[in-house]
Amino acid sequence: MKISVTQGNIAEQKTDAIILNLFEGVTEPAGASGAVDKALDGAIRDLITGGDFSGKFKSLAILYPRGQLAPRRIILVGLGKAEALTLDKIRTASAVATQKARALGAARAATIVHGAGVGGLDPARAAQAVVEGAILGEYEFHDLQSKEGEKPLDQLTLVEFDSAKAAAVEQGARAGQAIAEAANFTRDLVNQPPNICTPEYLAAKAEQIASAYDDLTCKVLDTEEMRDLGMGALLAVASASVIPPKFIILEHRLKGTENTAPVVLVGKGITFDSGGLSIKPGDSMPAMKNDMAGGAAVLGAMRALAELKLPLPVVGLVPTTENVIGSAGFRPADVLRASNGKTIEIISTDAEGRLILADALVYAKRYQPAAVIDLATLTGACVIALGHLAAGLFATDEGLCQRLLTASERTGERLWRLPLYDEYRELIKSDVADMKNSAGNRYSGVGVSAAFLKEFAEGYPWAHLDIAGTAYLDSAKAPWPRGGTGFGVRLLVDLLREWQ
Ligand code: BES
Ligand code: MN
Ligand code: ZN
Repeated sequence: MKISVTQGNIAEQKTDAIILNLFEGVTEPAGASGAVDKALDGAIRDLITGGDFSGKFKSLAILYPRGQLAPRRIILVGLGKAEALTLDKIRTASAVATQKARALGAARAATIVHGAGVGGLDPARAAQAVVEGAILGEYEFHDLQSKEGEKPLDQLTLVEFDSAKAAAVEQGARAGQAIAEAANFTRDLVNQPPNICTPEYLAAKAEQIASAYDDLTCKVLDTEEMRDLGMGALLAVASASVIPPKFIILEHRLKGTENTAPVVLVGKGITFDSGGLSIKPGDSMPAMKNDMAGGAAVLGAMRALAELKLPLPVVGLVPTTENVIGSAGFRPADVLRASNGKTIEIISTDAEGRLILADALVYAKRYQPAAVIDLATLTGACVIALGHLAAGLFATDEGLCQRLLTASERTGERLWRLPLYDEYRELIKSDVADMKNSAGNRYSGVGVSAAFLKEFAEGYPWAHLDIAGTAYLDSAKAPWPRGGTGFGVRLLVDLLREWQ
């Protein structure tokens, strides 16, 4: 979809559809909707008084001006109550409206910047949300089907009446496009099946994005190099598979920032999690193609940062392997040695994410980072605690925690802080090693996993996001389809753009 911005009156746009909005409970439309209502002799007020359209969040109404105005159709989308307006609602409403335009067969549409007028929101952020909604809303995954998806809109034009806001709208729209396209890239990776999306595939995708941007470089470590670094935890998880593991390193750095400490992002890249010898029940296995969603979010975020030419240096690390069964595989009762020398007694081969993250968190230290943030579909316990509504947030640094919570509020990618009590560490004391990889019971599963990671996240401010519940949707939740959500891309990019 081509995105453009223009200054002017939306009612004068010669296009297949224009998109306007209405707040719930409003009887006299204002702004662009008010102007169109007048031009159509009260057609919008008729819809409201007749009870056809109330402005309820995500609701729609269509008007046909039949030559009274330049556009062929008018799509009205409800924004809900004015006092409850958020950027996330604008994003969703924009997705709903642009999906409707497409369903009606429109090739080109124009939209007002929801929230930037009467809504009183920052015009750049509002425009970003409108564009993100349109691009995230057009996403479908049909790569492996013979039938083609619905034809997307060719063009969406954001029309801003106020010339004082036009530059901000333009800048916000450009950011929104970079970020949403990166999130769709992440969704593609998550939606690919595990026979296609292998560690090699992820490494090739990382090389591809690095070659597309001057400020982005990629290095991929192979088994041999991981062995030299003593990454015994990662290699143990990989040991059963004939598909070799990879350790992906992406570095985004503009010239002149060689002496600035980077932020390091780490993403869990398990391309398929069978549980290993501690095998999962069959019905919970297909969803485990999503177990690389943290790694995919890191790759997507790196791509967006490069596109936006972010001044802050950022490193992305993605340890990636399958967790399958084979005679060379690791076992419950094995003792592994991670790259910081600490030893780990294996209780469950299904607690594999923390093992590959352990070696990556140790590797992160060499950058003397300003902060390290990892994202992982780490525990079913986190899904039990928070459902699909929020990711679990653990942090050893209050400043970093606050920055993340602020980014969460702005992007609508919800985080909920969970505690890092010292007592969780006691639950993984081992008789034979420095620690166990699981407490061996169902209690405090999410806290225990974070306490384990903390043993390897030493020497820098650290935060861990457990995205097991938010990385994908089991079933569609309109306007969002089932499959990968891209969770984390918008959050991380927002956090890093505001880092200063
Ligand atoms: N990848 C899973 C966690 C998961 C579960 C992600 C559900 C998404 C949805 C992880 O590797 C795992 O198997 N965790 C175990 C840990 C346990 C063995 C300590 C779990 O949560 O049961
Ligand atoms: Mn597992
Ligand atoms: Zn896993």
